[in-house]
Amino acid sequence: MKILVTGAAGFIGSNLAKRLVQEGHNVTAADTFLSSGFQNLIDFEGDVLTLEHRLDIHSIRDLAERYGKFDVIFHQAAITGVIAKDGSASAGEDVHGFLRNNIEQFRQILDFAVDTQARVVWASSCSVYGRNPPSHARVPTL
Ligand SMILES: NC(=O)c1ccc[n+]([C@@H]2O[C@H](COP(=O)([O-])OP(=O)(O)OC[C@H]3O[C@@H](n4cnc5c(N)ncnc54)[C@H](O)[C@@H]3O)[C@@H](O)[C@H]2O)c1
Repeated sequence: MKILVTGAAGFIGSNLAKRLVQEGHNVTAADTFLSSGFQNLIDFEGDVLTLEHRLDIHSIRDLAERYGKFDVIFHQAAITGVIAKDGSASAGEDVHGFLRNNIEQFRQILDFAVDTQARVVWASSCSVYGRNPPSHARVPTL
């Protein structure tokens, strides 16, 4: 299959991208290298896309124009960290940038996937469901 892995320089994305190549898939690894370096992708044998700006619907549509339709998008890109109950972000990032990066751009990826009939596999994330008491941990609160 033709597969896009976002956040592919990160811990999960890089291991996933390499495994998918091993399994014979055509894998494109996309990352802004916001919080990861190239080290994780040194032995990756697919295409590496360095996104200049944060992934958004325009850049992902550019990807599809250049690389064709993806069958599956593994969405691992995120500013990893937790939004506290008071709305502050713990990643040295302003909370609006955090929400834009982790939530709004995910929504745009879903729109893109609907338009192009790609399947999406998403890691989910404490970056999304926030810091809540354990009894509420399974319920998204944003
Ligand atoms: N590591 C874990 O134990 C764990 C557990 C559960 C869920 N998750 C979730 O899985 C996802 C990946 O986790 P990880 O540990 O690999 O994180 P990571 O920080 O190692 O990797 C995230 C990658 O996303 C990139 N990135 C951030 N914003 C981007 C954007 N807009 N466009 C493209 N790339 C962007 C970063 O540069 C980084 O390389 C996250 O959503 C995380 O919350 C991780």
